Amino acid sequence: MDIKTTVFEAVKEALIKAEMAVPEDLCGYFETPADTKNGDIALPCFRLAKTLRAAPPVIAAKIKENLTLPAGIEKAEAVGGYLNFFAGADIYSQMLEGIGKDFGKTDIGKGKRLVIDFSSPNIAKRFHLGHLGTTVIGNAVRNIYKFCGYDTVAINYLGDWGTQNGKQIVAYKKWSSRERLESEGIKELERIYVLFGKEAEKDPSLNDQARAAFRELESGNKEYLEIWQLFKDISLREYTQTYKRLGIEFDVWDGESLYTDKMPAIVQELRDKDLLKIDDGASIVDLSEWNMPPALILKRDGSTLYPTRDIAAANYRFNTYNFDVCAYVTSAGQSLHFAQWFKVTEMMGREWAKGLVHVPYGTMSFGGEKLASRTGNIILLNDVFDEAVAKAKAIIEEKNANLTDKDGVSEAVGIGAVIFGALSNSRIKDTDFTWEGALSFEGNTGPYVQYTYARAASVLRKTEGDEGEDGAYAPNEDEINLIKQLYAFPERVKAACADNEPSYVARFMLDTCSAFNKFYHNCSILRESGATRRFRIKLTAATKQILGDCLDMLGMRRTEEI
Ligand code: ARG
Repeated sequence: MDIKTTVFEAVKEALIKAEMAVPEDLCGYFETPADTKNGDIALPCFRLAKTLRAAPPVIAAKIKENLTLPAGIEKAEAVGGYLNFFAGADIYSQMLEGIGKDFGKTDIGKGKRLVIDFSSPNIAKRFHLGHLGTTVIGNAVRNIYKFCGYDTVAINYLGDWGTQNGKQIVAYKKWSSRERLESEGIKELERIYVLFGKEAEKDPSLNDQARAAFRELESGNKEYLEIWQLFKDISLREYTQTYKRLGIEFDVWDGESLYTDKMPAIVQELRDKDLLKIDDGASIVDLSEWNMPPALILKRDGSTLYPTRDIAAANYRFNTYNFDVCAYVTSAGQSLHFAQWFKVTEMMGREWAKGLVHVPYGTMSFGGEKLASRTGNIILLNDVFDEAVAKAKAIIEEKNANLTDKDGVSEAVGIGAVIFGALSNSRIKDTDFTWEGALSFEGNTGPYVQYTYARAASVLRKTEGDEGEDGAYAPNEDEINLIKQLYAFPERVKAACADNEPSYVARFMLDTCSAFNKFYHNCSILRESGATRRFRIKLTAATKQILGDCLDMLGMRRTEEI
C-alpha cells in the first residue's frame, strides 16, 4: 500500500472518465511536496497541459471534478496548476506495515545479466588513490544492479599485458632478483619500474630492449613468461588484501593477456568488412563521421593496441556471458577511448553494442593532492585506509571508550568514511577529500550514516522482548515525514541503477538519516508502551533495514554498535 500508487490509479480513472488521454508515464509525474501544507502527494499538471492542450489549472480542476477519492485520501485540492492530495494518518500506518523485508527490490533486472569491468589495475603497481573511484564505484554499481534483480558478473580486467611488462622484465633482469621480489613484494616492482623510467631518459635504447622483451613475451618465451607470472602473483597477493579490506569479491579475473589470441580474428573481420584504413603505416578505423579521431587497431609494427584488446574482450564476454549490459568503470579520462571502440563494435554489426556502457568518474584527490605516479610519489590506498582507521579509532576512544570491538568498528568506520566520501558526490564531479570532512560524525559522511544505523540497532536491542501492543495509532509529523522518506527508496534505487549513480543511494541515506534523527530526537520510544511503542519500534526497524540495504549496496559495513 503506497499513496502514490493509490492516487495514481484514482487519477487515471478520472482522466478516463473525463475522456482525456492518459500519458504512459503518468506515474512519474507525481511529486512529494516539500511543504505538507501542499498535501502529501501532488500532481503537477504542466506536462499534461502540453498533451491535453489546456491550461494546467483547468486540467487540475477537471481531474478533481471527475475524481473518486480513494480510501485513505481525505481530500484533493486544485491550486495553481497542481492537484494536491491529502492523506489521512491511517494511510501512513498502513504504509509502514507494508515495508516488508524485500521493500525496494524491483524486478527491473529480472532475467537480465550485467557484466561489469572495474578496478582493473595494471599489475606491478600498488593500489593508489587513482584506483579508489573505479574500485568502489564499480562495486556499488554491481551491488545496486544485484539489488534490482540483475544477475551480475564482476570482472577484474587486470592490466597484465603491454609494453610496460617488457619494461618490467628488462628492469628486473638488470636491477632485481626473485629473492628481493619475494621479500619486498610489489614495492620492489614499483621501485624498478620507476628506476627504469629514470634510466631510460639517459639511455633511450632501454626502450628498444623493453619492446623486444615484450615481443619475446608475446611469442611465448618461457623464461619471460615465468618472470611475468611472478609479477602477476606478487601483485595479486597485494590486491587481494585490499579487496578483502573493502569486502569486494570478483567473479572473474581475466586480464588483458587472455585476449592475445582473440585479436587476430577481430582484426581480420575489420579488414573483411572493409573498416580498416592504413594511415601512415598504422591500421585505423575512421570515425570522422562521428566527430571522433580514428580508433587505432594496429601499430605500424603490427602490434595490437588497447582498443583492439577491448573489442576482442567485449566480443568474448558476450559469447561467454550473454550480457544485457556490459559496463566499464574508469576515470573520465578514458571516455574517448570507450566511445571510439563502442562505435567500432557497432560498425561491425554487433547487436550487443547497444548494451555497452561507460561509467566515467571525476578525479579524486586528497587535501588537494592528486597522485603523481611517474615520480614515484603516490598516495597509496592502504595508507589512506590506515590513516582513516586510526583517526576513526581516536574519535571512538573519545566518544565511546567502553565499546567492545573497538578495532573492528574503527576499521569499518574508517574505511566506510573513505568509501562514502568517494560515492556521495555525483560521480562525474571531482572529489577532494579532507580528513575532517570525511570523518566527521556530524556532516554528510560515512560515520554519520553508520552511526545512525547503529543508533537504530541500539533501540531495537533495548526494546527486544517488549514490542508494545497492536492498536490504532495516528502518526505525528516527524513519523509521517520519515515514512514518506522511506517510501522514496524504491524509486531512488531504480534511478541509481538506470543512471549507474551510487550517489543517489548515498544522498537517499543522508536524507533518511536526517528524518530518522529528527524522529528519534522528538519522539520517545523506550518510555512508551502500547500502540505508540509498537509503531515507533516498527518504524525504527524499517529504517534500520533500509539503511542496512543501502550500506550493503555502497559496500560499507553494517555497524550494529559504535
Ligand atoms: N587497466 C586500465 C587502467 O588502469 C583500466 C582498464 C579498464 N577496463 C577496460 N576494459 N579497458 O587504466
